[in-house]
Amino acid sequence: MKNLARASIVALAMALAAGMSISSVSAAVRPLSQHPVMGYNTWYQFRTGMTQQTILKQAKYLVSTGLAATGYDYVNLDDGWMARERARDGALRWDVAKFPKGIPWLAARLHAMGLKFGIYEAIGQRTCQHFPGSWGHYAQDAKTFAGWGVDFVKIDECGGLPAKTTASTLTSDFRSYGADLRAADPEVVYSEELPIYSMGQPSFLSTVRASASFANMWRVAPDEKYTQPASYTILSHLADDLDLNSFAGPCRWNDLDMLVPGRQTAMPFDWGLQAEESQLSVWAEEASPLLISTDLPTLTPAELAALKNPLMITIDESGSQAQKAVTSGHIEAVMKGADGGLAVLLVNLGTATANGHFTLSQLGITTARASGDNVWTGKSTTFSGVSVRLAANQTALLVLKNCSAAECRVRVIHKQKR
Ligand code: GLA
Repeated sequence: MKNLARASIVALAMALAAGMSISSVSAAVRPLSQHPVMGYNTWYQFRTGMTQQTILKQAKYLVSTGLAATGYDYVNLDDGWMARERARDGALRWDVAKFPKGIPWLAARLHAMGLKFGIYEAIGQRTCQHFPGSWGHYAQDAKTFAGWGVDFVKIDECGGLPAKTTASTLTSDFRSYGADLRAADPEVVYSEELPIYSMGQPSFLSTVRASASFANMWRVAPDEKYTQPASYTILSHLADDLDLNSFAGPCRWNDLDMLVPGRQTAMPFDWGLQAEESQLSVWAEEASPLLISTDLPTLTPAELAALKNPLMITIDESGSQAQKAVTSGHIEAVMKGADGGLAVLLVNLGTATANGHFTLSQLGITTARASGDNVWTGKSTTFSGVSVRLAANQTALLVLKNCSAAECRVRVIHKQKR
């Protein structure tokens, strides 16, 4: 998208802090959802048309490109993997035309590749695409998934809810499904969409609060639409998440929906590199899970490099979510502690090109000078204040250093062992 052109950061002036550099991200395996989950999801590329063969192709690509080693190691099936009806004993079945060797076989293949395996279901009678939902079968389905070797379960909320459903009854259902999933497999990652039911309503916050008490991640923003401008999607998702930072922390994350780089077949976003970097910037600052939903082989080397950007990943996986901080005219600075410094996302929320200026003390830095890394250009600069000129909807992502934990207004979370 053109109006999300790479940010030009101007007027950065001053001396680099000794010994500070862009840190790299460990390729080691992370404990399940202690950090926001990273991986791949089928939805925007395939809708319900995924098959055993196409999934394995995407999985092999995750490994061969180094995405898996960078942390993108979940391969998650979305809606459409199952048979249209349950078996006589009520058990879920996979679609044998799509998965001739079966889901347990696929899970084992992915595990053998060093990957993890995720699956999709819905809380009501039907999934959003009218496949059998889990209503009346929570414990049974939880045991089925554990028996198949599933590491991650996403539970949706559309597709047919029981009569008289309220935010309160739905919350109990999601809590109960989560308990069944954990009883069947204490290590499972539980991802759900309860808050979507209440978006824009007074009960929204209570559904997020409840989700944070029993799930590992929960959707706080609507589905992305390829028919909408990238800037609208990215910035409205940022707004949906900004005030929810207190609910996020190790093992519990606000989920902004999927990353849509590259070129999809079912839902072609085709945003281009600069908008994709903006999406990554917002998702990283908000500590959202990073689930790529595209045809992976269509990614250009530059798009792959953006997804693997070590500083962006460090920001995403830093252990906390940003909060709204300060504004200068139409420019908003959103920040959090990350990488031993302060990760600052600058966004022009206006409708025309705008300038913004922030003193270090406005950003929470008490020293007279600081250094900064631009996450996307890799350039390091030193300065006594940050001045930016951004086109409408344009973003920039910086990490400011020379600011110890005591000197930063926001808490610096030290990287945890991976
Ligand atoms: C809902 C969810 C999406 C996707 C589809 C599948 O719209 O929000 O993420 O899972 O259902 O039908």
